[in-house]
Amino acid sequence: MSDTVDVAVIGGGPGGYVAAIRCAQLGLNTVCIDAWKNARGRASLGGTCLNVGCIPSKTLLESSEYYFQVKHKISVHGIQVEGATVDVPAMIARKDKIVTTFTAGIASLFKKNKVKSVLGTGRLLKRSDTDDTWCIEVKDDDNTQTIQAKYVIIATGSVPRQLPMADIDNEKILDNTGALALSETPGRLGVVGAGVIGLEMGCVWRRLGSEVTVLEAMPDFLMAADEQIAKEAKKIFSKEPGLNIHTGIKIESVKTSKKSVTVHYQDTDGNKQKLDVDKLIVAIGRMPNTTDLGLDENGLEVDERGFIDVDEFCQTRLANVFAVGDVVRGPMLAHKASEEGVAVAEAIAAREKDRQHKTEPVNFNTIPWVIYTAPEIAWVGKNEQELKKAGTAYKVGQFPFIANGRARAMNAATGLIKVIADAETDRVLGIHMIGPHVSELISEAVMAMEFSASSEDIACIVHAHPSLSEVLHEAALDANNRALHI
Ligand code: FAD
Ligand code: NAI
Repeated sequence: MSDTVDVAVIGGGPGGYVAAIRCAQLGLNTVCIDAWKNARGRASLGGTCLNVGCIPSKTLLESSEYYFQVKHKISVHGIQVEGATVDVPAMIARKDKIVTTFTAGIASLFKKNKVKSVLGTGRLLKRSDTDDTWCIEVKDDDNTQTIQAKYVIIATGSVPRQLPMADIDNEKILDNTGALALSETPGRLGVVGAGVIGLEMGCVWRRLGSEVTVLEAMPDFLMAADEQIAKEAKKIFSKEPGLNIHTGIKIESVKTSKKSVTVHYQDTDGNKQKLDVDKLIVAIGRMPNTTDLGLDENGLEVDERGFIDVDEFCQTRLANVFAVGDVVRGPMLAHKASEEGVAVAEAIAAREKDRQHKTEPVNFNTIPWVIYTAPEIAWVGKNEQELKKAGTAYKVGQFPFIANGRARAMNAATGLIKVIADAETDRVLGIHMIGPHVSELISEAVMAMEFSASSEDIACIVHAHPSLSEVLHEAALDANNRALHI
């Protein structure tokens, strides 16, 4: 490619591809370089999220939940289903088809918006002294090309953190890629790490019939969640047959044989324990991906955890080089990556096209978190432990799903919603949920916080009856000592 483009985006995940589309929509000549290839060696845009993350995991969570309902829960409705079975390859094939449809969808969005898509691994070479453009080398197998760009957006995402004594082979010891592609349900499944991936993947295979044992290093799990919600989750999960969660453990060794994987570990009391499983998922966090990006050569260091240092507008210390998504600080979430991508595109367009245009950084305080277990967990804003630490005076209102008619009708009446508001001003500081479909209910909480609502504002809004959203309404009423149905 000989002409200089306005923007070169390195990485085609939700950070990079969204940034590229927005740049193009704003009239910038844009290239998106992405290295991801599918099993047939073709470009597969969408990054971790689309290929081996959000979409495939939610597809399998959905499918496995249907099976679980039919097998174990549907009889409470008076419906008897005999002989329900699972066809795991068919389930995986459906998931793969959904992934392929969406990756092809991004390719057409690129076409429609005139984003040029380049397959290969990008590396920042140097900034030209003569015309202030960046030169990026792109390698794909034996082909190498260079791209000149005025601006660069790095969106190279993250990779799984490895457990030193357990090499991922995606046969017996699996990362997220292997955990989403099993051809049969393992009889015994081990999971190292009771984080988001461990709980979601454990959920999928437990619903399909695995005996799942989760080994977590910390004394508790879901450390980022509100303590009360994490405790409630632990209480609910520990009652689930086929799911065992051991916290406070220390892994000592992992050995594979032809038939199984054996994990030796110390339990929370320091006693030696052994776990034999057919497959072991390792999900102990993810690390920013900056391998061979040419950062050192350009004097761009990463912080002590490997993230590229950026300011609140995602600007790195290099002129006209931005970085977004999992490769920079903040939660490793697809919607956070995309919002940063949009914000950077707007900032570049403002510099290039309309210098008056005011851009805003992404508001981290209103980024929702969702964990798609059963029941689901979701939150936005501050939790109680953070507010206590900050010395903020607050009040809490809460309401359980058990007192909600819709949740009862659905046979899904577990969990609660709690609203935390400033003790003096009543402004909502955080909303925390565990229960049915809270992945959807959290949006109302995000909207309320984005518009600086008070808990009384939520309490004054009419919520449809009967609906799950009434639980949020009642929790807001409770924050004002006016709950009606409890
Ligand atoms: P990525 O999606 O990782 O994309 C980076 C892209 O850059 C990749 O295509 C990679 O091949 C490419 N790349 C890397 N280096 C180069 C290079 N040098 N040159 C060219 N291309 C390069 N988040 C949610 O919000 N909701 C969820 O439900 C959710 N579920 C998840 C489930 C799993 C199993 C996993 C693993 C993650 C999940 N996440 C979820 C997290 C989410 O996937 C990430 O936060 C998101 O993908 C980050 O987007 P990104 O664009 O920063 O990076
Ligand atoms: P995580 O950070 O959520 O959890 C990792 C867990 O492993 C922690 O509880 C940690 O204490 C534990 N751990 C670390 N080292 C260990 C060891 N040696 N032995 C035992 N336990 C150990 O990371 P995870 O689950 O890998 O997910 C990575 C990220 O991907 C998430 O933080 C999230 O940002 C994103 N994600 C988001 C999802 C969503 O939004 N629904 C779904 C899946 C992933």
